[in-house]
Amino acid sequence: MSTITTSDYRGVYHFSPKEKWMNDPNGMVFFKGEYHLFYQHHPFGTTWGPMHWGHAVTKDLVNWEELPVALAPDEHGTIFSGSAVVDWNNTSGFFEDEPGLVAIFTHHLEVENNHPIQRQSLAYSKDSGRTWIKYEGNPVLEDRSFVDFRDPKVFWHEQTKEWIMIIACGQTVCLYHSPDLKEWTLGSEFGAGIGSHDGVWECPDLFPLTVDGDSSQEKWVMLVSIGADPAFKEGSRTQYFTGEFNGITFVPDEASHTIRWVDHGRDNYAGVSWSDIPAEDGRRLFMGWMSNWMYANQTPTEAYRGAMTIARELTLETRDGEVMLVQHPASELERARKPVLSLQNVSIKQVSEQLNALQLVNYEIDAEWPSATSVQFALRSGSDHETLVGVDVAQGEVYVDRSRSGVGDFHEHFLGRHAAELKAVDGNLRLRIFVDHSSVEVFANNGQAVITDLIYPDMTSKAISVQAEQNDMIFNSLHIYELSPIQAKGQSK
Ligand code: FRU
Repeated sequence: MSTITTSDYRGVYHFSPKEKWMNDPNGMVFFKGEYHLFYQHHPFGTTWGPMHWGHAVTKDLVNWEELPVALAPDEHGTIFSGSAVVDWNNTSGFFEDEPGLVAIFTHHLEVENNHPIQRQSLAYSKDSGRTWIKYEGNPVLEDRSFVDFRDPKVFWHEQTKEWIMIIACGQTVCLYHSPDLKEWTLGSEFGAGIGSHDGVWECPDLFPLTVDGDSSQEKWVMLVSIGADPAFKEGSRTQYFTGEFNGITFVPDEASHTIRWVDHGRDNYAGVSWSDIPAEDGRRLFMGWMSNWMYANQTPTEAYRGAMTIARELTLETRDGEVMLVQHPASELERARKPVLSLQNVSIKQVSEQLNALQLVNYEIDAEWPSATSVQFALRSGSDHETLVGVDVAQGEVYVDRSRSGVGDFHEHFLGRHAAELKAVDGNLRLRIFVDHSSVEVFANNGQAVITDLIYPDMTSKAISVQAEQNDMIFNSLHIYELSPIQAKGQSK
């Protein structure tokens, strides 16, 4: 059962809870053919409140099955963000015959007349995440010198044969190591004097990736989200660093001394990667919370509030001489496609005529054209609304302009235009644009720049049109696919 309805701005190929509040993705782990998604959830309200871990699973990254709440508050506090791993070798001693799942999360305890206390705890599951037992030795890690001490992301480090935890500790991240997930030793701290500190550091992740798919070249990628601060109209955002990691210390490379953002839109926050994707698959899959703390509690949905981005594959690629983090829509999304339009070497005039006939809400556009021309699509258009997505060649940027995209009066900084630098690759520009009931995700030049933005147009705003600087321009190709989870069903790997 997936949560498909067409009302209340609910996306059809994005995960959102059937009802009530959701924020960060948590505990993402692949186990026995299922991708698990746990998430920050308030099961009794549509705004942020006492946090639980909600739970959903998918076999194909498109069809989601929502399961009962996995973790609820207890005497140690509410359940903040964290991760989950497969304890293949039973290092924790929680399992007898078969490996199981261990969740490592922050217990957040409110204390009268004082700062809340944030400590790290464990829970384990012997039945593929359906039921959880909290460890009786909780909490397993605390450091009272930090008010903000949360969001542990844990992974197995083969070289040192230990578990590593990266965790936000004040305005930096701390790196701990452990043989058994229970006893943790501080290895190092990273982040002072580097990166953006425009908001509190949250939800870090750390993982290795090959460079340009060359297995002899590896770098570590660190993701760090920063919370919203009223001084910055961007709200909450996620940055990344690249460097070396030896099990104790992360050493950033030269490029990391410049601030680099994972996404140039407003609505991709607290994203982390899936644990335990099998080596034969080998991908590093990522998903973020498609909202922003600046206005997350005010978005105009009723039964539920919060959705995730599409699943994305992260790679490190050399582009223009720099090794950068690149995002690609997970290939599973292609199974959700129903072809609508497929054109090659076609003039803008012909494209416009074809688009005129279309009325679509949930779809993908994949367009490529020679780089000399600025092109702008108007999507989810109706009498009063349109969302503009395009490339401005003179400015050298890709943008999403949601100034007239629909409802936006719930926050002064919601409406607006968001851009990212973009240069042509081999003389061409390419946009893959994922549109759903309340979102637009743009992957420019094969993921070199990504813009993820929420939009709230009327259900009836379904028109698509395109304009170009030169009205005799020719697209190399233009494909449109309707995206619906029904197509993807039953075809999982
Ligand atoms: C990030 C965050 C985390 C915290 C959680 C609480 O969005 O603030 O740092 O664990 O949300 O819901």
